[in-house]
Amino acid sequence: MNEDLASILLTEEQLRQRVRELGEAISRDYAGKEPLFVGVLKGSFIFMADLMRQVSIPCSVDFMAVSSYGNATKTTGAVKINKDLSQDIEGRDVVVVEDILDSGVTLSYLTKFLLNRGPASVAIATLLDKPARRQADVRAKYAGFEIPDAFVVGYGLDYAEKYRNLPYIGILKPSIYE
Ligand code: IMP
Ligand code: MG
Repeated sequence: MNEDLASILLTEEQLRQRVRELGEAISRDYAGKEPLFVGVLKGSFIFMADLMRQVSIPCSVDFMAVSSYGNATKTTGAVKINKDLSQDIEGRDVVVVEDILDSGVTLSYLTKFLLNRGPASVAIATLLDKPARRQADVRAKYAGFEIPDAFVVGYGLDYAEKYRNLPYIGILKPSIYE
């Protein structure tokens, strides 16, 4: 285990198992359609790569970059689009892929932003859900794990751009960010 972690919350095996289930559910629900997965950079990139490989129907991928956090561990409430999609989503079935649903500010903003462009549907697939801190009314159609109110890193999730490479998810020692 990385020395900056207080504990491991989700092991590689737990992640693999759950991501497979989510991919199977998406493949069933979107059978006959061709969903466009929209990953929210950077946190979702590892989840996206693993999730897509568990989807057995035709699909495509694009990415957006938004910022709401800076290097702090609390949301500022403001969302800025730093990179937009590279394609039109009119008539498409969009699945927004996120690392974690926390306050919900990011995904609530992004969902409305995408709905304005006339897609057939917009759903959310999040690996982690931290319901304790929700401020905005957003619901994820697919959620991997409900987690307690702790700051977690690994499997794409960072603190100050570090720890994304850990193959598991751990709780960061508060001494690292306090
Ligand atoms: P929200 O707008 O508050 O839901 O923020 C979502 C974003 O905050 C995520 O995409 C992450 O980038 C970041 N975030 C929230 N909680 C954590 C955490 O525990 N670890 C790492 N990043 C987090
Ligand atoms: Mg993120």
